[in-house]
Amino acid sequence: MKSSNDNHKAVYMDYAATSPVDPVVLEKMIPYYQVKFGNATSRNHKFGWEAEEAVETAREHVAKLINASAKEIIFTSGATESNNLALQGVVNMYKQKGNHIITCVNEHKAVLDPANYLGTLGYDITFLPVDGQGMIDLAQLADAITPKTILISLMAVNNETGNIYPTAEIGKLAKEKGILFHTDATQAVGKIEIDVDKMGIDLLSLSAHKMYGPKGEGALYVRRKNPRVRLGAVQHGGGHERGMRSGTLNVPGIVGLGEACRLCHTRFKEDFQYISKLRKMLLDGLTKEVDMMVVNSHPEKCVPNILNISFEYIEGESLMMGIDLIAVSSGSACTSASLEPSYVLKNAGLGDELAHSSIRFSFGRFTTLDDVQFTIDSMKRVVKKLREMSPLYELVKEGVDLSTISWSAH
Ligand SMILES: Cc1ncc(COP(=O)(O)O)c(C=O)c1O
Repeated sequence: MKSSNDNHKAVYMDYAATSPVDPVVLEKMIPYYQVKFGNATSRNHKFGWEAEEAVETAREHVAKLINASAKEIIFTSGATESNNLALQGVVNMYKQKGNHIITCVNEHKAVLDPANYLGTLGYDITFLPVDGQGMIDLAQLADAITPKTILISLMAVNNETGNIYPTAEIGKLAKEKGILFHTDATQAVGKIEIDVDKMGIDLLSLSAHKMYGPKGEGALYVRRKNPRVRLGAVQHGGGHERGMRSGTLNVPGIVGLGEACRLCHTRFKEDFQYISKLRKMLLDGLTKEVDMMVVNSHPEKCVPNILNISFEYIEGESLMMGIDLIAVSSGSACTSASLEPSYVLKNAGLGDELAHSSIRFSFGRFTTLDDVQFTIDSMKRVVKKLREMSPLYELVKEGVDLSTISWSAH
């Protein structure tokens, strides 16, 4: 099915997968590719000093956004690496203390897979379930803690639904029990307020490309006081990043991440208000124009930039093809290569069909009101057309209870 409005430019509604680099960020990065190209660990000449200074300024910007101190920031290649370093680094350092880690079934694969890997090495991993709204139960978390628990790893915001987890409460519980708390805050930093002190966070992963910075750059916050967290390195080499992550620093990438963080900090209120307005417009517009939708994002505890909705009696792939001028995700971008329905939604109790027909709309600083209106109009048109081909939808519209129908051929 082709779009009726093929002249319209493509509209990007997939910011949670990745965001464009802010021009201000790009401008800051460019000199570090050619003019100021030094190696930040070259201690004996100007080129090295210049690069090192830029890296340290970036470290301060990253720290400021999450209320940390610059020395607590370790640069990595992105949140996948940060998560791996957090989980494996804690295990490497604290395995004498215990062998138990608590995480959740709805984490991103970049936590689930390292956790499963540690499981194959003999570590005991608890995957907490989620309720019908995709949220964890704090009482269940408390019950899961044993004297052998060395780490709790729970994300701050879910990448598919945008749901905000009770990070401060988790941090408080972890502190009371003397257990380290890691949070994958890839979808949270720059979107909602994150304060590692107030929230009792010991380790935090973030990624530049989700916040208008470059791809392939990220950071891990590692607490230095109360308690001082130590990690056993995963990648060994020249002893960069206080020995926790060896490898020549990606100076332009780090400069980009720093500038992206500085912008998110200075523009926080403005971005939050504008993006909240876009979300309200999209949700109100779709609610008005399209019936039989299930909103999978939590009604209140959700970031402003993500809206996840299932459209009943519609096949997800046909929907995606129908709205081919609009870039969205069905489930997580990282797993959408497979046709498996989203595990995040299924774990929250959604059936295969609704999980399959889910769309994650995500938007950002550069999304316009026109983009949102075009999305609403396109969804209205395509959903209507697909439903006209759905006998189930017709039956439901006529008031038939589908559960009473016997489908078998006699
Ligand atoms: C919650 C979450 N964690 C981790 C990642 C991986 O981040 P990166 O692409 O920086 O490795 C993503 C990206 O999709 C994510 O959404």
